[in-house]
Amino acid sequence: MIADIFMENVEFSYNSNEEKLLSDINLNIKKGKFTGILGPNGCGKSTLLKIILKYLPSHEGIIKIENKKLKDYNQSELSKLLSFVPQKSSLSMPLTVEEVVYMGRVPYIKNKWSGFEKEDDEKVTEVIKKLDLEKFRKRNAFSLSGGEFQRVLLARALVQNTKIILLDEPTSALDMNYALEIMKITSQFVKKENITAVMVLHDLNLAALYCDNLIFLKKGKIMYKGTPKELFRPEIFQEIYGFGCKIIEHNGYPYVIPDKI
Ligand SMILES: Nc1ncnc2c1ncn2[C@@H]1O[C@H](COP(=O)(O)OP(=O)(O)OP(=O)(O)O)[C@@H](O)[C@H]1O
Ligand SMILES: [Mg+2]
Repeated sequence: MIADIFMENVEFSYNSNEEKLLSDINLNIKKGKFTGILGPNGCGKSTLLKIILKYLPSHEGIIKIENKKLKDYNQSELSKLLSFVPQKSSLSMPLTVEEVVYMGRVPYIKNKWSGFEKEDDEKVTEVIKKLDLEKFRKRNAFSLSGGEFQRVLLARALVQNTKIILLDEPTSALDMNYALEIMKITSQFVKKENITAVMVLHDLNLAALYCDNLIFLKKGKIMYKGTPKELFRPEIFQEIYGFGCKIIEHNGYPYVIPDKI
């Protein structure tokens, strides 16, 4: 099976005279899978997503998306293939929720004189409804709470209708109910549309509930790859994060219970 995202010996540093921030990155992320990227603060998770998105200029090693080298894609091609839910996002102008979501349809505008079409309206309405954002539709996006705004960012990515969706901590400001909802929507989207989702997240138990595969990063290196069941082991959490814990099983899923320190 051809990997959707293939990385071989990828290395990266923000400053050429500094130590590598990411090194020996070898990955094979398959279509139709929901992959979680986990690891301590500052270990390079967001940087890894930004490299795949071609937001960062140069890297060493080989990256292929759908079997074509990343360097051979232009941004317009990538915007139809990859969508992104950022960890932080600042709007530079006051836009309504609806306007923010429509931004996800910009790659599909046929030429600069034609506006959005019926298909764009239908997609935006469908996703706004799915993410329970109808009541905010005409609100200024600046006025939303952190969690409400995160749902708007996910909506913008979903209307983009791409084969690959990259998400950087999309549940960090959400209450448990909405966090579960976002994980459910992402995982249903992956299975129904046979797309690829790569999500950075810190909530280990949410990752185990919804992700098919996990990648543990530490200091810019991949330490472990596998399913949640394979990787949820106290010695692994001790090694990656430095905390002691117990692993329990509930409804067939592993859960991590941290020791009090
Ligand atoms: N533009 C930049 N220039 C220099 N250093 C940077 C830049 N962006 C990030 N870094 C540094 O690179 C390291 C990795 O950052 P990154 O944002 O990838 O971490 P992360 O794993 O996503 O962390 P978190 O869990 O806190 O979001 C950090 O030490 C960060 O300070
Ligand atoms: Mg980050």
